[in-house]
Amino acid sequence: MSARILDGNALSASVRSGLAERALNLTARRITPCLAVVLVGENPASAVYVRNKVKACEVAGMRSLRFDYPADVKPAEVLERIAALNADPGVHGILVQLPLPPQFDSDAVLEAIAPEKDVDGFHAQNVGALMQGHPRFIPCTPYGVMEMLRSEQVPLKGAEAVIVGRSNIVGKPMAMLLVAASATVTVCHSQTRDLAFHTRRADILVAAVGKARMIGGDMIKPGAVVIDVGINRLPPEEGGKLVGDVDFEAAKEVASLITPVPGGVGPMTITMLLANTIESAERVARGR
Ligand code: GUN
Repeated sequence: MSARILDGNALSASVRSGLAERALNLTARRITPCLAVVLVGENPASAVYVRNKVKACEVAGMRSLRFDYPADVKPAEVLERIAALNADPGVHGILVQLPLPPQFDSDAVLEAIAPEKDVDGFHAQNVGALMQGHPRFIPCTPYGVMEMLRSEQVPLKGAEAVIVGRSNIVGKPMAMLLVAASATVTVCHSQTRDLAFHTRRADILVAAVGKARMIGGDMIKPGAVVIDVGINRLPPEEGGKLVGDVDFEAAKEVASLITPVPGGVGPMTITMLLANTIESAERVARGR
């Protein structure tokens, strides 16, 4: 059996057309949704992500502001910029691209963002709200994954969901969302003793570790739904292409539904960033 491919580009296109309509309605009320993106240093992957985020705003009829700093910038200068963006009523979302260079205390930077503009959902207040079950902003990647599962009507209640990876950006918020949806959730990580034991039990397997093709076909339960969050560049001697954390060719023979890399979760992450920014602007329009 060959799995159905869950096309993140197609789902993104349909979600983004609804978002563009909401952006247009806001603009008609003189509130054009605006995302401010801060990029520090020259991490090539971060530069690509930021470029894609800014471009997606344009296409959806939103405004974007971009602030680039050299890798050796003083943290105080970036914090000053964040304070100015917090105070600017024309800005609805603020995103500081991670990772930050070593002189930064990343938590302190994330805490400096006004929680009501924290469209990444990384501020401690927003993490707490998510954990308590009344999220203000859902982190974009797990939010995108939930939208993909919803679009395919994947049953979540009572399902065995296994997440590989425990990052603040993906693994932990993903676990919160799946628990809230009444799945039984297992979070695996680098110290997990027998990874395959867990992954083979998964009705829904979410791979978010950042290791090329580390999940083999033999680690997947027949008929499982496989969500691949990884984006890894193979070395030039192996062809240099982008691959996920899952061995796609092997996994698609075992799974019932699988996300490709590229063209799976990646585009949905950006789509949900747009959604959060528009939601933020709509709250301003509503007066809260
Ligand atoms: N770096 C990798 N993923 C993300 C993300 O979703 N948001 C930010 N700000 N940085 C990231």
